Amino acid sequence: MSPVSQPAFGHARQGSRAEPVLAASVLAPFADQPPAASLEAVGISKSFVAGVVQVKVLQKLSVAILPAELTLVSGPSGCGKSTLLSLLSGLQAPDMGTVEALGQSLCDLNKRALERFRLQHTGFVFQGFNLFPALTAVEQVQLPLGYLGMSDRQALERAMSALDEVGMTHRAQLRPAQLSGGEKQRIAIARALAKEPQLLFADEPTSALDAENGQNVIDILHRIARRHGTTVVCVSHDPRLVRHADRVLSMEDGAIRSDWRPGMPGNPVAYPMTPMSPMPGNGALNVVGHSSVDAPPSTQYHSDKGRQA
Ligand SMILES: Nc1ncnc2c1ncn2[C@@H]1O[C@H](COP(=O)(O)OP(=O)(O)O)[C@@H](O)[C@H]1O
Ligand SMILES: [Mg+2]
Repeated sequence: MSPVSQPAFGHARQGSRAEPVLAASVLAPFADQPPAASLEAVGISKSFVAGVVQVKVLQKLSVAILPAELTLVSGPSGCGKSTLLSLLSGLQAPDMGTVEALGQSLCDLNKRALERFRLQHTGFVFQGFNLFPALTAVEQVQLPLGYLGMSDRQALERAMSALDEVGMTHRAQLRPAQLSGGEKQRIAIARALAKEPQLLFADEPTSALDAENGQNVIDILHRIARRHGTTVVCVSHDPRLVRHADRVLSMEDGAIRSDWRPGMPGNPVAYPMTPMSPMPGNGALNVVGHSSVDAPPSTQYHSDKGRQA
């Protein structure tokens, strides 16, 4: 992987907005040579203790995720999606295994360095928007830029540019109570985007939205990945989002059961390979890459549990 100081992609300034400068390997995702992974987990495990019971959420999971595309982590509620996202983003540490982000081993960073890394390189979008009721849309977006040491003028410029990118310029002076759910989520995306992070994480960003707004949000995330070379990892239990992703990692019981590309029927994920765990019950390995665009067997949830938030 490329170290932080030498990313596989970068942003060249042009006007107020960053323009992507993608490495050739990123621009040709199906060339012979795989692009460098921007996120890589190797053999990660995570357990939680609830009372006297230890819940093993992830067990020896390995995955490599690429820049400039939207990777959707799908699967029923409770299967470990949010836990995986929190480990990949450095919010939590694995009990075992390693996570590398932009070539940096997160386990090697002390608390302060990890916070700095996350501030500089990662953006987050949550199901509940997490907006401050008293702030206007543009103030919400400007706020984290202050922590990065940006001047007020520069932060305002960046914030307006990010709002423009999500089509919210005309809502810049409104407070959350004056915005619809879809608009609030677009403001939250602009807030994450304004930092120009190389890694963007979204946890159930469409769960509180109707179908149309949910589709808008996922399309915006997809566009960000393509336009800026950002690594976008989106977690969702909603099977409707699958066809909007470049790549889908389907999880079940804390393991990745399939790894496929919806837009490329019949094309397997050529790289990087995610080691598959046996399906419960029959012990058979799931095939990587499917001929069906919308629904490989492992993305069709086995119970209604998966459709609940
Ligand atoms: N901090 C925690 N303490 C105890 N149990 C947890 C904690 N975080 C997650 N879990 C448990 O881990 C399992 C997976 O949770 P999660 O990763 O949130 O699943 P998903 O996002 O797929 O719905 C669930 O059984 C959940 O209750
Ligand atoms: Mg979750």
